[in-house]
Amino acid sequence: MTPRSDNRRPAAPARMAPPMTERVLISGGAGFIGCTLAPRLLARGAEVLAFDNLHPQVHTSPGLPPRLHPGVRFVPGDVTVASNWAALFKFFQPEVVVHLAAETGTGQSLTAANRHAAVNVSGTALLLDALVAARHVPRQFLLASSRAIYGDGAWRDESGHVFYPAGRSRAQLDEGEWDFRGPTGLPATALPHRAGTTIPNPISVYAATKLAQEHLLSAWCRAFGSRLTVLRLQNVYGPGQSVTNPYTGVLTLFARLSRERRALDIYEDGEIIRDFVHVEDVASAMESALGREGEGVRTYDVGSGAPTTIAAVARHLARRFEAPEPIVSGRFRDGDVRAASCDITAAARDLGYAPRISIEAGLETLARSLEDPPPTSPGR
Ligand SMILES: NC(=O)c1ccc[n+]([C@@H]2O[C@H](COP(=O)([O-])OP(=O)(O)OC[C@H]3O[C@@H](n4cnc5c(N)ncnc54)[C@H](O)[C@@H]3O)[C@@H](O)[C@H]2O)c1
Repeated sequence: MTPRSDNRRPAAPARMAPPMTERVLISGGAGFIGCTLAPRLLARGAEVLAFDNLHPQVHTSPGLPPRLHPGVRFVPGDVTVASNWAALFKFFQPEVVVHLAAETGTGQSLTAANRHAAVNVSGTALLLDALVAARHVPRQFLLASSRAIYGDGAWRDESGHVFYPAGRSRAQLDEGEWDFRGPTGLPATALPHRAGTTIPNPISVYAATKLAQEHLLSAWCRAFGSRLTVLRLQNVYGPGQSVTNPYTGVLTLFARLSRERRALDIYEDGEIIRDFVHVEDVASAMESALGREGEGVRTYDVGSGAPTTIAAVARHLARRFEAPEPIVSGRFRDGDVRAASCDITAAARDLGYAPRISIEAGLETLARSLEDPPPTSPGR
């Protein structure tokens, strides 16, 4: 598979990870990213607690997810219930908070606005109020934000003019006009997202709530002197993503359908651009962010640095599972963005971030995980 562009750098020498003898709270720690991050923090000596309500849309099997490391202390709790936070902070005062708990259905959020706002926005505010009530200020926070906050992002037309498209109309989509044109009608291409330069422009309720999380945490951390790192993640994939949640994880869905030898239905003309980043690379970015130098609030984009098209990944998975050739159906989904990728230069420079897993190798880890799923856990 040839990436659309490749701004990956030669792997930087791995930074020595210092020991981390701290108490780390991972909200949403039983989920896909939390379960991948926790073993790395445990290996560095951290005491890790996962606070999670085992959301039924994500966790369909009974008991704790098998991927949750046995060294992680699990505390059931709902971020929208103030008394759950209060009870937690009575016995566990974290130096580090990794905030992952969220409602994550981008398309779903448009018809479940209150649910997304309650968990993502109010849930974050309740966390902060509970810390104040417990008279505890963590040394640092890490927020998993999303590339969704950029919406369609910035585009540049053939004359070099940079513009922010106002979305695609139903008439345009019906006509199969997939790409945006500049204000004078010239063809245009999407620019990679770059924090600090690309203006956020949420086009889903989910995206709006992720941006609100950034603002809430940023205001609070500035006031209380905590360090905050915001990582705006592109599309994360890899072993461990919920295979039953229909609202997230296009690659997990494609892999599951291909394994069932079903033909994939590819939307638009198949040339939708995404930057798929492997969950282990994301966990390594998070680990580095927790050890970063400097105080205050910093925001970074985290992707693979090598965007690809939906058609390319679909064909790759279909071949891998000997499924029929995918069908480019020309259908479309309201609220989908045409292109998403990011510039990882700042994360590379400040965090030593160097994604190591190519899309081909990453898809293989995903495919194998579906062929050989871990045993279900009876719980602990
Ligand atoms: N996976 C991606 O592609 C991606 C991309 C960008 C940003 N993110 C962000 O990363 C974070 C983690 O995502 P993930 O992929 O691990 O998702 P996930 O759904 O696998 O994990 C989220 C966890 O949060 C828990 N949770 C949900 N609602 C809760 C509530 N009310 N109280 C307590 N726990 C609750 C769920 O049970 C789940 O274990 C999210 O904040 C998401 O917005 C993910």
